[in-house]
Amino acid sequence: MERKLLWRIIEKRWEAPEVATLKLSLVGDEPMVTYEPGQYLPLIREFHYGQERRAYSFSSCMETDPQPTLTIKRIPNGWFSTWLVQRVREGDLLMSAEPAGRFLLPSHKPKRLLYVAAGSGIVPIMSHMKAIFHRQAWNDVRVRLLYANRDSEHTIFKHQIDAWMAAQPERFRVTYFFSRERSNATHVEHAHLSRDLFEQYLLAFAGSEKTDILTYLCAPVPLMRMVRMTMRTLGFADKQIIQETFTPDPRLQRRQADPSRIHRIIVTLRNGHRVAFDAYAGETILRAALRQSISLPYTCKSGICLSCLARCVRGEVEVQFVEQTKREGSGAWINTCISYAVSDEVELVL
Ligand SMILES: Cc1cc2nc3c(=O)[nH]c(=O)nc-3n(C[C@H](O)[C@H](O)[C@H](O)COP(=O)(O)OP(=O)(O)OC[C@H]3O[C@@H](n4cnc5c(N)ncnc54)[C@H](O)[C@@H]3O)c2cc1C
Ligand code: FES
Repeated sequence: MERKLLWRIIEKRWEAPEVATLKLSLVGDEPMVTYEPGQYLPLIREFHYGQERRAYSFSSCMETDPQPTLTIKRIPNGWFSTWLVQRVREGDLLMSAEPAGRFLLPSHKPKRLLYVAAGSGIVPIMSHMKAIFHRQAWNDVRVRLLYANRDSEHTIFKHQIDAWMAAQPERFRVTYFFSRERSNATHVEHAHLSRDLFEQYLLAFAGSEKTDILTYLCAPVPLMRMVRMTMRTLGFADKQIIQETFTPDPRLQRRQADPSRIHRIIVTLRNGHRVAFDAYAGETILRAALRQSISLPYTCKSGICLSCLARCVRGEVEVQFVEQTKREGSGAWINTCISYAVSDEVELVL
């Protein structure tokens, strides 16, 4: 079943108002946990009614930081982030599942990287940049960051980013977009990152060559949609854009479970064991498993974190995204948290 990890908070520091970094150390004799730049740790809290989970990206990078760190921004009325930012202390324990996530650097060295971040969306990008600027073999990769915040005080990691920019101005450039600050600071636009501004900066970075740029976005859905649409319109390929969002889209529809129709689900777990359970029509595969105390991996339950990905090897499912419903069969990767069985039997491999 899923491996659970226990961590001790060995340091807590403030990065900006309502933003804290927690430095963690694994408790006990657990084998070393590895993660890649851009991945996250699924934190778990257990209650009498079940578990609550949230994803928090590593702001650290294994190549530069001996201990992993998470950087958390408190969301107003957000109970998990409020607990982490305001309540937990050094010495406290945290439980997690294993690191997960697909917001990864390419395996081959890219030529140019464009990053677009807003607010805490900088956290996984910080982990990327630590790796990029550390790797000798990557020292000719050019990096451009467009980073949107309300003002400089709320800009997470500004100090570190400015230091990198000052140390290597020929390969790393940043533009901050401050929606609520007026100043004479350089590298700052006092505006929201609008479509016009984005297009202007993108074209200036790209020059006459478009195909060698890889773009990473981590921002709220509307900003990411604007960036993606602008890039498509300007002739960039979808495979040049990798994105992650932290916020579930509230438009995601949930179906009504119908116990009068039952599907059989068989799942091969990561350790090779097989489990079988029933799912009602209109019930997601993940929800059916959890209802019967079968522990499949998950974090967000909203189709955005990808910790629940499984490969369908038999049968048919419907994967319900916000803007489309896709019918998938054998060979497809599906998110169990937004997938509904269509055929009587469905077989999955984690
Ligand atoms: C892959 C991934 C990586 C993430 N990495 C980080 C990270 O490095 N640092 C970090 O601080 N957070 C990160 N998050 C977000 C985090 O998992 C939580 O969603 C966030 O902390 C809110 O949880 P909560 O319990 O405090 O809020 P909830 O109690 O779940 O929600 C309260 C209200 O806030 C809204 N809301 C939820 N999340 C957000 C959000 N991110 N922004 C704005 N409104 C929101 C909800 O719709 C709800 O209305 C990540 C999320 C994902 C999917
Ligand atoms: S649990 Fe996050 S995508 Fe399914």
